[in-house]
Amino acid sequence: MEIRLLKQNEKPPMALLLTADPSEKLVKDYLDRGYCYTAEIDNQTVGVFVLLEITSDTIELINIAVDEKHQGKGIGKTLVKDAIQKAKEIGFKTIEVGTGNSSIGQLALYQKCGFRIISVDKNFFIRNYKEEIFENGIQCMDMVRLSQEL
Ligand code: COA
Repeated sequence: MEIRLLKQNEKPPMALLLTADPSEKLVKDYLDRGYCYTAEIDNQTVGVFVLLEITSDTIELINIAVDEKHQGKGIGKTLVKDAIQKAKEIGFKTIEVGTGNSSIGQLALYQKCGFRIISVDKNFFIRNYKEEIFENGIQCMDMVRLSQEL
């Protein structure tokens, strides 16, 4: 699997990015400002992640997604670890990630990769998304923020 920074003239895998974040407007906004990396197997995109600088010291893993057909095989974990490594190489001191209170698998994944919960942005998904989101039978309302020192 090859993980590489998308070139400026290449189209980001929007359908995949939207599986992690249903707001096309938000996705387009952070794609303009962030670094988009894709993971390819035999020239086919199987995963994506986006890193977005939030301060001179802190970068956010703002989107990560693995194609449904390729989920559950360790690709997500490899991408999170690669994002952490890239953030370190670029020179950031802290990496953050945010996920929904209902995103049980994602909360497991990030903690397995060394992230610790630092705060909860209450009602984030109610304020920022028009449609109600449900996962695992739980309404997604709050954003759980996690971080790790690099
Ligand atoms: N409880 C405990 N651990 C869980 C879990 C649960 N409910 N669900 C997942 N995990 C663990 C897995 O067991 C695995 O850890 P392990 O290697 O120690 O077994 C780890 O989380 C992730 O597995 P992996 O196969 O690397 O993940 P993946 O390739 O399926 O990708 C996502 C994970 C989240 C990127 C993928 O499911 C996806 O693209 N989802 C849709 C988009 C999305 O939600 N993005 C994140 C937005 S915050």
